[in-house]
Amino acid sequence: MTGATSRAIRRALCPGSFDPVTNGHLDIIGRACKLYDEVVVAVLINPTKSGLFSVPERMDLLRDATGNFGNVIVESFGGLLVDFCRQRDIAVIVKGLRAVSDFDYELQMAQMNHSLAGIETLFMTTNPEFSFLSSSLVKEVAKYGGDVSGLVPDNVLQGLKLKAL
Ligand code: PNS
Repeated sequence: MTGATSRAIRRALCPGSFDPVTNGHLDIIGRACKLYDEVVVAVLINPTKSGLFSVPERMDLLRDATGNFGNVIVESFGGLLVDFCRQRDIAVIVKGLRAVSDFDYELQMAQMNHSLAGIETLFMTTNPEFSFLSSSLVKEVAKYGGDVSGLVPDNVLQGLKLKAL
């Protein structure tokens, strides 16, 4: 080192089911990427829920869709989110808030995570363009042949078409 001071990497976590990732998720992840050195996007492994896309498929879609941000790492996790944060040395969770209806549950989770492990949760207001958007609605609309282009990245659009076969 030549006198330069080193500082810890500022790392944030964007957790979720991502079944599949939507443009709303990508908006939040992209904005988090501008605030932090590294953003870990973690896909929940939920043994009680199979989902449309498998966890490895969701991770591949996320890697592909976030590659252009340049500072995203995609991982999966099971168990408590705070344990994953501890293992990866992450102190901040970033979540998007779409509407008041999201707030109650998100507040509960944020307070629980803070009480369990001192993990902070930062809420970003969703871009109004995506405030009605959810993975569940995308799947339902796509299932019945509705047009979800513009709501999900191209790789997800292709993935949804393949699942419909
Ligand atoms: O995309 P989702 O389904 O709204 O994401 C919810 C998620 C994965 C963030 C939440 O269910 C979670 O953190 N699950 C891990 C288990 C856990 O830590 N539960 C206690 C939360 S206070």
